[in-house]
Amino acid sequence: RPSRRSVLAGGAFVLAGGLLPGRLGSAAATPLPKATRALDLSSGFMDFRLLGPDKPASRISVYDGTPFKTIRARRGEVLDITYRNGIDEGTTVHWHGIRIQNAFDGIPTLTQPLVQPGGTFRYLVPLDDPGTFFFHPHCDETGQTGKGLAGVLLVEDERDPAFDAEHVLCLKDWRLADDGSFLAMSEPAGASKAGTYGATRTVNGQPVVELEAPAHGDVRLRILNLDSTRVMDIGVDHGDAALIAVDGHALPPILLDNLPDGVWRMGPAQRIDLHIRMPAAGGTVRLADYRQSSLYTFATLTATSATTPAATPAAHAPRPFRPFALPRPQVPRADLKRATRLSFLLQQATDAAVKETALPPDDPLAKALIDSLCVGSTTYWAIGQQSWPTGTRRNLPPPLAEMTTGRSYRVSINNGSRYPHPVHLHGHVFEVINSSTGRLPHHFADTVLVQPDEIVEIAFVAAPGDWVFHCHILEHMEAGMMGYFRVT
Ligand code: C2O
Ligand code: CU
Repeated sequence: RPSRRSVLAGGAFVLAGGLLPGRLGSAAATPLPKATRALDLSSGFMDFRLLGPDKPASRISVYDGTPFKTIRARRGEVLDITYRNGIDEGTTVHWHGIRIQNAFDGIPTLTQPLVQPGGTFRYLVPLDDPGTFFFHPHCDETGQTGKGLAGVLLVEDERDPAFDAEHVLCLKDWRLADDGSFLAMSEPAGASKAGTYGATRTVNGQPVVELEAPAHGDVRLRILNLDSTRVMDIGVDHGDAALIAVDGHALPPILLDNLPDGVWRMGPAQRIDLHIRMPAAGGTVRLADYRQSSLYTFATLTATSATTPAATPAAHAPRPFRPFALPRPQVPRADLKRATRLSFLLQQATDAAVKETALPPDDPLAKALIDSLCVGSTTYWAIGQQSWPTGTRRNLPPPLAEMTTGRSYRVSINNGSRYPHPVHLHGHVFEVINSSTGRLPHHFADTVLVQPDEIVEIAFVAAPGDWVFHCHILEHMEAGMMGYFRVT
């Protein structure tokens, strides 16, 4: 186990009176944002009953001693987060969806050294965009996030409309044996196909949550798919419900009834905000994943006669439902006419690529690579014919594309495989400009689900740094479906 000193020396980021990005690229020339709030964050283990009250507990991984630790902040804050690694393997923290400087993006090897057990790393996290975000490790994600390591980052905006109630719902399945221990997080049959599913389905760590809100009140639900694998079709058994944000970013509200099949299809890492108008006292609203043949109802909202102090009496009378619009996203807008066009095919890795990179998992080198570079030992997937160097002797692959800071890009993501892939780009908020199926409304996001045979086009203004671009089905990512854009 490396000492703290060796970790710091290896990190090369300690400087009197401040901190310096771990990687000294062109991005280092950008001035650091000024921190407004210091926070400590640590990871560790805890025993938690996932199988039921009378069943054995599971040893899960958490931030700050609580499942789905939630940080609430205001738009405009810059968090200065000292992270301490209390789990038993190297890790990092990635601030999913945050437009951050590259040095704080949390990618081992590419943007920072791995934080060893007992080690620390400081992250400067600027909160320019309001919305529902999350954070998670970027090493052995199937293992670390699969066992629970993920936190919620809520960025409030003074311009947000006033709701009578707000609830946060973190959906995640767990791969558990009857004695509460974890089953293997990844099986080849899953990793090479749709993924290895957990059978214990939960919301906020429970099988189902029972929530309350005032009758005829306006409720904001922030729903996060924090599962490693599962694509969900989120729907509500109630007409007065609208989709108001995707991945934290407002879109013109859409009644759920007006979406295809009345649901929003959401892959791992995707988030939605819903506005629900409650029925009369005693009435209920049920939320479910309608995708599976066996419907999973994860939350029931019951209308109570209680009022909230903020609400006016009129707010508790029946009235027509007009969904609230959240403040519009303020992100750099790509120039679609002048944008450089690129296209990437998502596909199974070719046999040649698999052969080139495969190391037997029991090879000590494979183990060392998994530990230090956070890569898997098998390659099944590729983006644009390239696979992240899983189990290979190479260090990093070349970038998928070289881009210029401040330029606009239109990237077509073409799914040539038989499985859906939620594709995530770090460090940017992109615009989803079209999908070949016509399924997706125009919206801003950091992750987009691309269905089999579908082509989705995204656009963004490139920010400086090396930004990974990967599938957020964690096994796909660890089995090669990851690359990066180099923006200079
Ligand atoms: Cu939440 Cu690289 O991802
Ligand atoms: Cu995938």
